[in-house]
Amino acid sequence: MRKRAVITGIAGQDGSHLAEWLLEQGYEVHGVLRRPLNTRFWRIEHLRDRITLHQADLLDLASLIHLLREVQPHEIYNLAAQSFVPASFAAPVLTGEVTALGVARLLEATRLVAPEARFYQASSSEMFGKVREVPQNERTPFHPRSPYGVAKVYGHFITVNYRESYGLFACSGILFNHEGPRRGLEFVTRKVSDGVARIKLGLADELRLGNLEAQRDWGYAPDYVRAMWRMLQQDEPSDYVVATGVCHSVRELVETAFSVAGLDWRRHVRVDPAFYRPAEVDLLQGDASRARQELGWRPETSFERMVEIMVEADLERLRRGDVV
Ligand code: NAP
Ligand code: GDD
Repeated sequence: MRKRAVITGIAGQDGSHLAEWLLEQGYEVHGVLRRPLNTRFWRIEHLRDRITLHQADLLDLASLIHLLREVQPHEIYNLAAQSFVPASFAAPVLTGEVTALGVARLLEATRLVAPEARFYQASSSEMFGKVREVPQNERTPFHPRSPYGVAKVYGHFITVNYRESYGLFACSGILFNHEGPRRGLEFVTRKVSDGVARIKLGLADELRLGNLEAQRDWGYAPDYVRAMWRMLQQDEPSDYVVATGVCHSVRELVETAFSVAGLDWRRHVRVDPAFYRPAEVDLLQGDASRARQELGWRPETSFERMVEIMVEADLERLRRGDVV
């Protein structure tokens, strides 16, 4: 019998890569959209005839109960979230409803309807925020610096709590930033690769960015979805940091991306305070030793190669005239 998996947020970056990976492993993949008629399908267009799509919303418990009753999944991957940090400052309550309480709703639906299903929660290195130690591991205390980070801390602990209280096979993956050509245009790596491609093709002359000194541990999204799946294949549920262990500044990201296109970034990049955040996360660097030892997971794509892939993909896309 084929295993059935439910992925919330299937139309997002990670959802599309995870759907591909699970199809390769022989799964029957069920994806959740909140507004099927309004959804931008570009990341999953090529999978449309191989997956089943359902309408449900993390804001609505009944829709999640109906979903799980219908699918009776073996595995549930909760990737849906309001995932953009600046938007969480603009809409902190909505972010809490979706990114924090949405996890509780899905766990509750799981407990009621599919208690044997294995559950993955998409937790985040943003929970470390104002970091207490470098690098960060599973035991590093949290100090979130945005309403998004605060909401993810709730999502993390409610997942741990349902495991401890009700015996659910629930895992929390604390993933550091991961990117690729399917990243939303608002996140800094994709904003830079898109900006570089536009400048190279003569469609723009400058790129306005915020804090160039922030440092992140950037990995490649297709590598990271394998870690999610591996967590749910273990004998016991647990929580894992997933990261490359290497960090770069936004300035280094910019230098690397512009040099891929043979451009001098100093001639085009302007710092614009509009892109600064009320509170910044200055540095994230993960220690994924546990994932390496217990899951046998390691990243396969370097930062430099990832930036190259992203710039080349945006050059091709813009030459075709595609919007995203
Ligand atoms: P993404 O591209 O923003 O995808 C998130 C998806 O969630 C979108 O498809 C969105 O649907 C959906 N969604 C939003 N609100 C919803 C709701 N109320 N009900 C149902 N679906 C809803 O994010 P991603 O980069 O793939 O990340 C996947 C998950 O991992 C997120 O939870 C994110 O917070 C977390 N995470 C990401 C990273 C990273 O670096 N990418 C790192 C750590 C953790 P629409 O298309 O309709 O907006
Ligand atoms: N978005 C953006 N736009 N970020 C900028 C810009 C800009 O113009 N200029 C500088 N930055 C800096 C931000 O201040 C931040 O320090 C860093 O670039 C990364 O920003 P994002 O790419 O927006 O990602 P993030 O680190 O805030 O959040 C992402 O990673 C988290 C994991 O640590 C998101 O994917 C979250 O959902 C995820 O949990």
